[in-house]
Amino acid sequence: MLHGKPGANGVIGHARAYEVLSMVVFAGRRRRTFGRLVALAGVAPGDRVLDIGCGPGYLTALAAAAAAPGGSAVGVDPSEPMVGQARRRRGGPHCTFEVGRAEALAAPDGTFDVVVSSLAVHHIPEEVRGTAFDEVFRVLRPGGRVLLADFRPPRGRLARHLVGATAGAGMRDNPVERIAPMLTGAGFTAVTESAAGPFLHCVRAVKP
Ligand SMILES: C[S@@+](CC[C@H](N)C(=O)[O-])C[C@H]1O[C@@H](n2cnc3c(N)ncnc32)[C@H](O)[C@@H]1O
Repeated sequence: MLHGKPGANGVIGHARAYEVLSMVVFAGRRRRTFGRLVALAGVAPGDRVLDIGCGPGYLTALAAAAAAPGGSAVGVDPSEPMVGQARRRRGGPHCTFEVGRAEALAAPDGTFDVVVSSLAVHHIPEEVRGTAFDEVFRVLRPGGRVLLADFRPPRGRLARHLVGATAGAGMRDNPVERIAPMLTGAGFTAVTESAAGPFLHCVRAVKP
């Protein structure tokens, strides 16, 4: 969790507080940072996009805008308060939200052109994270693309201490280096890693 304490199984219940904290943490750079994720994912008009662990739907809405005209985005999150907030603030005919978990997606095989996710991978319980990546592979069409962005812990001792004290050990020790090999293990190819903003580690890959 970057901001907002998760409850059982990594689910965040305080949707409005999370939204405010998200704005504070990105310090005026939320639009730019999330816009960069949409660009890195290569979302184009007509694409069908899935946002996993969408929270209040900020990235989902930007993806829906990039997929217009003709495309759409759906955000999935197990937190009903998050999905409710996302629907109220960002829902529309081409930007929809559903309660669901990454490790058990409801969509049929090959539904999406693009899957994106921000700051959510570390919330998926470790014991089902591999299953979640298999699910991402399953719901993408052949040639479909995935972009997973998650919190990259700082290297400095003081910064690490601060992250641990404010956000917990899960974020301080977040093993983002495991995402790329796990995507390869799920069957993805062309796996590449990059940074976005000061604390996001991005992994992109393609379903052959
Ligand atoms: C830190 S928030 C990120 C929200 C949003 N993507 C953003 O960048 O602002 C992490 C989200 O992951 C969700 N989450 C927790 N467990 C999950 C799971 N198994 N599958 C999908 N999402 C999950 C939480 O409910 C929470 O809304």
